Amino acid sequence: MESAALIIELEKRLPRKRFEHVLRVTETAKELAGRFGVPACIAEQAALFHDIAKFMEPSEMRRLIEENGEDVKLFSFHHELWHAAAGRIIAEQDFGVQDQDILNAIRYHTTGRAGMSDLEKLIYIADLIEPGRDFPGITELRNAAKLNMDEAMRACIVHSVRYLIDRNAAVFPDSIECYNEHVQII
Ligand SMILES: [Fe+2]
Ligand SMILES: [Fe+2]
Repeated sequence: MESAALIIELEKRLPRKRFEHVLRVTETAKELAGRFGVPACIAEQAALFHDIAKFMEPSEMRRLIEENGEDVKLFSFHHELWHAAAGRIIAEQDFGVQDQDILNAIRYHTTGRAGMSDLEKLIYIADLIEPGRDFPGITELRNAAKLNMDEAMRACIVHSVRYLIDRNAAVFPDSIECYNEHVQII
């Protein structure tokens, strides 16, 4: 889909703050794409779509997930996680996205997973380090992303899993598998 038309659609669907986040993620994703050898137009599309379902009603996300054979384990976790699976379905069904790598980048941008593609990692990282983010440790994540994509992905998934564990919060199994893949086995 042409980016300009998609941006107009996103502006209708998302509150201002989230829309601006999506634009910042898109700029960050294009920057990382140039650095890490991913086609910028693919990174741009995935980034623009990644939060398309962020403000859907949970009941509507649940319906989409159930009707499309998505992972029902999601329902045992906070509905914040559901928008990635719902977003993938919307990108495919409502916007005609067929590229499986773009669809997977949308699908796994909140949890990560084992065996992520370069594009999936790039969107996961861009979502976490876009210039509007501010949290303890963000500088380390941004510095890692200047050097090496796998190092950046490791730093990002370690950060995300640690954030949840520090709050005694549940960690989705895909995130644990992603974490295990990026840290040492001792
Ligand atoms: Fe998201
Ligand atoms: Fe996001």
